[in-house]
Amino acid sequence: MVTTPHLDEIDRDRLTQRIGELGEWFHNLDLHGVRTAPNHFLGDFPNVKWKHIQKSIPQDLSGASVLDIGCNGGFYSIQMKLRGAGRVLGIDVDDRYLNQGRFAAATLGMDIEFEKRSVYNVDQIEGQFDYVFFMGVFYHLRYPLFALDKVIKKVQKKLVFQTMIRGSEEAKQVDSDYDFWNKEIFSDPHFPQMYFIENSYANDPTNWWIPNRAAAEGMLRSSGLEIIDHPETETWICEPKTALRADGKYILDHELAGTL
Ligand SMILES: C[S@@+](CC[C@H](N)C(=O)[O-])C[C@H]1O[C@@H](n2cnc3c(N)ncnc32)[C@H](O)[C@@H]1O
Repeated sequence: MVTTPHLDEIDRDRLTQRIGELGEWFHNLDLHGVRTAPNHFLGDFPNVKWKHIQKSIPQDLSGASVLDIGCNGGFYSIQMKLRGAGRVLGIDVDDRYLNQGRFAAATLGMDIEFEKRSVYNVDQIEGQFDYVFFMGVFYHLRYPLFALDKVIKKVQKKLVFQTMIRGSEEAKQVDSDYDFWNKEIFSDPHFPQMYFIENSYANDPTNWWIPNRAAAEGMLRSSGLEIIDHPETETWICEPKTALRADGKYILDHELAGTL
């Protein structure tokens, strides 16, 4: 949670009114003592997640560059700025959230850039970022691996990745190959799988693909990442792999992604 000096009553009322005018908030930020989403259905969100994740990220991020994909109201961007990050860029497709983020950053006196941009166009942003946050977006995508392959090109040091998980939460080691007639593996609940949501899940028609843990971890690895930490059930900290896979699959997938 961002804790900042409290305001007098008049300023507080004005701030509360402005927060309300910006629409319903998904991020419960603390703006000088005024909360933006005090009645969030997930509690004090995303602070409930951050309290587990924050230990996995250096306290001192002096000068580090950060890209926050699907930044929403800017919670993670703000946290990175509080740790001294240099350039912080938040992107999102939703103007309501971008405006909330801009307002929150201005209210807290933080220099954070917000830009309307889809993750599918993230490869058009110049250069790489020390830290890339890709939190809570993956399962909202119809083309999740296409997006992930673009996201990893932007990662200089670490990717902080979160997805909703359903089904098995066990980490499954998969074999290097399976026989064509081996159909049993597909009945194993721990085998990597994604659940396709044809209509709606959690009253949200933008939920498309929800992986189990093995699928989430397998996709991260197959996109060229090494998992270095798993601070909470749905979040992984990854680094780009230095060595490409011996069978060249990683290279092939990326060449393919570039042509799509
Ligand atoms: C569940 S919220 C997660 C917000 C925040 N990253 C977090 O973890 O708390 C999903 C966010 O992703 C954004 N989003 C959805 N599709 C996107 C896309 N194609 N590109 C970028 N952002 C997207 C939504 O507008 C929303 O702000």
